[in-house]
Amino acid sequence: MWRPPQRIRHQPARGRIPAQDEAKASLLFSPVKIGNLTLAQRTWVPAMVPWRATEDGFVTQNVIDWYERFARGQPGAIVVEATGIRDIPSGPLLRIGHDRFIPGLRKLVETVRAASEGRTRLLIQTIDFLAIRRRPQPAKFFQRFLKITDAHRRALGTSNDGDIRARLAAMNDDELAQVLDARELESLRFGYRERVTDMHLDHIRALPAVLPALFADAAARASQAGFDGVELHYAHAYTMASFLSATNTRGDGYGGARENRVRLPLDVFAAVRERVGADYPIGCRYLAEECVAGGSGLDDAVFYGVEFARAGMDFISTSRGGKFDDARQPNVGTAAYPYTGPSGYECMPQHISDARGPFGRNVAPTAAIRAAIRAAGKTTPVVCTGGIHNFEMAENLLASGACDIVGAARQSLADPDWYRKIAQGRGNEVRTCEYTNYCEGLDQKHKQVTCKLWDHDGLDDARVSRTSDGKRRATAPEWKG
Ligand SMILES: Cc1cc2nc3c(=O)[nH]c(=O)nc-3n(C[C@H](O)[C@H](O)[C@H](O)COP(=O)(O)O)c2cc1C
Ligand code: SF4
Repeated sequence: MWRPPQRIRHQPARGRIPAQDEAKASLLFSPVKIGNLTLAQRTWVPAMVPWRATEDGFVTQNVIDWYERFARGQPGAIVVEATGIRDIPSGPLLRIGHDRFIPGLRKLVETVRAASEGRTRLLIQTIDFLAIRRRPQPAKFFQRFLKITDAHRRALGTSNDGDIRARLAAMNDDELAQVLDARELESLRFGYRERVTDMHLDHIRALPAVLPALFADAAARASQAGFDGVELHYAHAYTMASFLSATNTRGDGYGGARENRVRLPLDVFAAVRERVGADYPIGCRYLAEECVAGGSGLDDAVFYGVEFARAGMDFISTSRGGKFDDARQPNVGTAAYPYTGPSGYECMPQHISDARGPFGRNVAPTAAIRAAIRAAGKTTPVVCTGGIHNFEMAENLLASGACDIVGAARQSLADPDWYRKIAQGRGNEVRTCEYTNYCEGLDQKHKQVTCKLWDHDGLDDARVSRTSDGKRRATAPEWKG
């Protein structure tokens, strides 16, 4: 992962630990409503992909164990990882693009309900993504993948395609840059990647026509499976975020001005709402800032937040960065990963950072979005996430009006019981996340995600379940509350 050049080491801390009475009376442990749904407390475990589904996208026992462990900490809400809305192969990512996925998802819902003693609400994040391929071997790229065009023929002064392929394969980088266009060079150096602006492709042109129904069908399945609500994934590097992006120049009324860029996200929401009804909680996660050159900034995000609230979303959750635009060049045979560049750092900042540090980088932008929503007369609750890891921080955010709900991904991974520990006045037992991003490194390699703080604990105990490679603990150590 990219790191800021300053390389300042920041130390996470437990902060001031409240006694049980203080915790009980705190904002963090007070209820909040998202639509008609009440969360018992304002704690929220945001979506995290742990790479535990089957290759066909089904819920496994491993997936169930993962969420069961989070549920025992009894947070106000857990959002199940990004789950694909299409019925297409997508590796070990959960899927909800067909009714055959419902029974497994229902079992997941029932497990979380039981493990949290009914105290945790379970939402699911629904996602669409475009095609991305691995970085090719150059020889293969020139032999097979590159489509020879008139531009190549003109540049090389021949119409013999075989000859063109052979000559391109023998060129150095500077020579290739004279002959190939930017997308061809990108396909060679990073692997082919579709964009929402690829209007020459029928299925990309058709996205505004097909996505509302796909998201609506997925939400209907989520409701059938018993989920308490749906989070539409409008963040990071994926299709819906690409529509919101200032880099979206589509000329069909869904790109260009921000009013156009927000159209499809609103159409999708309208279709979902119509399908699941007024009472079913639906919100979205989107970027407070894209953090890439030419991308959407806070002004755009404020505008979108107000639009989403006016449209009737039940909650809004913010993230930042996580784009392909500045991702690191992958090795040959692997695909680009959107969390490897500076924008990826903004999404999951590490403990070695710049002067701003990794804790609460999204607080000020989220506060600005919330203030604009309130100024527009809407009470839509806003979830803020990013480096939040102790009671004091969380309570200050709520007290200052930066947000209504506090998201903590890695801190919840480090210690799924941290909510219960604080609520019981036992905050000194919390395992604080170190923000070294060991977990994120596993995620990047699509390996089953675990936390370095619990990995080796009890690994020699035969009763402890391990990851499929047998090297790490599959779930966090127990805590007797
Ligand atoms: C292993 C891992 C997987 C993640 N998967 C998702 C995901 O599926 N959807 C999403 O919106 N964010 C995802 N994120 C980002 C987190 O939800 C969160 O925004 C980010 O980690 C910053 O919050 P934190 O500092 O509390 O960890 C993931 C993060 C991690 C560490
Ligand atoms: S591995 Fe654990 S301690 Fe390290 S960043 Fe991830 S959650 Fe935090």
